[in-house]
Amino acid sequence: MSPFQLTRTLAPDAASADLRADVLHGLTRTPKELPPKWFYDARGSELFEEITRLPEYYPTRAEREILAARAPEIAAATGARTLVELGSGSSEKTRFLIDALLPGLDAYVPVDVSESALTGAAEALLAERPGLRVHALVADFTRGLALPGTEGPRLVAFLGGTIGNLLPAERRTFLRSVRAMLTPGDALLLGTDLVKDEATLVAAYDDAAGVTAAFNKNVLAVIDRELGGDADPADFAHVAVWDPEREWIEMRLRARHALAVKIRDLDLVVPFEEGEEVRTEVSAKFRQEGVRDELAAAGLELARWWTDEKGRFALSLATAR
Ligand code: AVJ
Repeated sequence: MSPFQLTRTLAPDAASADLRADVLHGLTRTPKELPPKWFYDARGSELFEEITRLPEYYPTRAEREILAARAPEIAAATGARTLVELGSGSSEKTRFLIDALLPGLDAYVPVDVSESALTGAAEALLAERPGLRVHALVADFTRGLALPGTEGPRLVAFLGGTIGNLLPAERRTFLRSVRAMLTPGDALLLGTDLVKDEATLVAAYDDAAGVTAAFNKNVLAVIDRELGGDADPADFAHVAVWDPEREWIEMRLRARHALAVKIRDLDLVVPFEEGEEVRTEVSAKFRQEGVRDELAAAGLELARWWTDEKGRFALSLATAR
């Protein structure tokens, strides 16, 4: 049997229908907003990889530090035979987990909306690990997920702090759907960025080299290309603000002057006043009590909590009750 299998649970045109609906809804409401998942076309994914190497963007390095130090403990605590990774992308940091879980690991199940990311990551992993079986799933895990038949115990990993892109109500739904994939004894490994001083947080989302600004504006290029839009990125400024009440970073695009964006395929003209903003991302930051409470509300019990040396980022191991 081939060590690589791929299952598509997304219709090939699902993404474009979703984009149309999100843009139509998000740009005709007040205040305007666009979901962050549309950053990640090929160019956006490249820009995100570049962000992870910026001096100001600490979360990737902090999480890698924790995984490198704790993967053996995670493997021993879970004894996982199946490793599922949601939003696996390049699977770069997952190597620590896979290598700690082998040879008992039966299968690695990466889940992502990007088929090219999945095949590329699987190829790289398999080249170095002949014993590994990879069953990739092309799926949007925010819409609930059916796992292929997998052996327990299962470990579901959701890394990078991406859960922070969900609003609190969305997180509740998401964590419940993760819990529904698990049976007692299975576990969730969750990466969360932590609340810290405002200057550090804002710098991480507004770097000096302007890479995050280009990443933010890339959503306009996606709309222009996919929906026949005429938005000019130069007409918008990149904005990153810390909301101290809700403890999240917001990225926005702010119109530098009054303008209108035409979107041909939607038969839509979107007017902007000078200074008007589109919210393009929420990136929530967490505290241990909050993570414990949100997990508990979904039927998951916080069993272990690890941070990097500087206490910037946390990995939680939670077990299904
Ligand atoms: C990939 C969602 C974890 O929220 O920090 C990076 C995306 N946005 N810089 C994050 C992102 C701006 C990132 N996540």
